[in-house]
Amino acid sequence: MEELELDTRPALETEQVAEALAGELRAGDVLLIEGEVGTGKTTFVRGACRALGVRETVWSPSFTIGRVYEGRLPVSHVDLCRLETLEGEDPALLADYLTPESVSFIEWPDAASAELEPERVALRIRLSHLGGDRRLMSAVGRPDLMARVKERLETRRPG
Ligand SMILES: Nc1ncnc2c1ncn2[C@@H]1O[C@H](COP(=O)(O)OP(=O)(O)OP(=O)(O)O)[C@@H](O)[C@H]1O
Ligand SMILES: [Mg+2]
Repeated sequence: MEELELDTRPALETEQVAEALAGELRAGDVLLIEGEVGTGKTTFVRGACRALGVRETVWSPSFTIGRVYEGRLPVSHVDLCRLETLEGEDPALLADYLTPESVSFIEWPDAASAELEPERVALRIRLSHLGGDRRLMSAVGRPDLMARVKERLETRRPG
């Protein structure tokens, strides 16, 4: 699978890359956002949400596993950081968010690895610390989507 790697700094650039990429997303797409604490997963989701027409403030859900925002289509933001596994949980817990009408972002997706159908996953983004406010962002995903995302990011940063 094709992979895309980018260096971003500062946080605003992570948001901008997410915004550019979100322009290629379609209903039903699920994006997994991985990376250590503080690497910018929520920052990424915030940028993507803006491009998807969400006007609400995006922050991590705290009393539920997710939130649904209203954008040009429904946008689900799930954060599984407090969960080791979804085994034993109601299957609807995740399914309620990952509807075919929504674009869905999952922070800390490991707990859902057994439940997620691989064909639903449009992109897997991994963020890592590079020191200070630099982050490495790598993305792998559906080849058609990757090609369009690459094109968009190239036109965003000429040279
Ligand atoms: N290049 C960068 N990209 C993203 N965030 C950055 C960058 N540089 C600095 N930051 C800062 O790092 C922090 C990232 O916080 P954020 O909540 O997005 O991380 P997170 O990965 O969602 O954390 P958590 O694991 O707690 O959910 C923010 O304060 C952001 O401003
Ligand atoms: Mg977060």
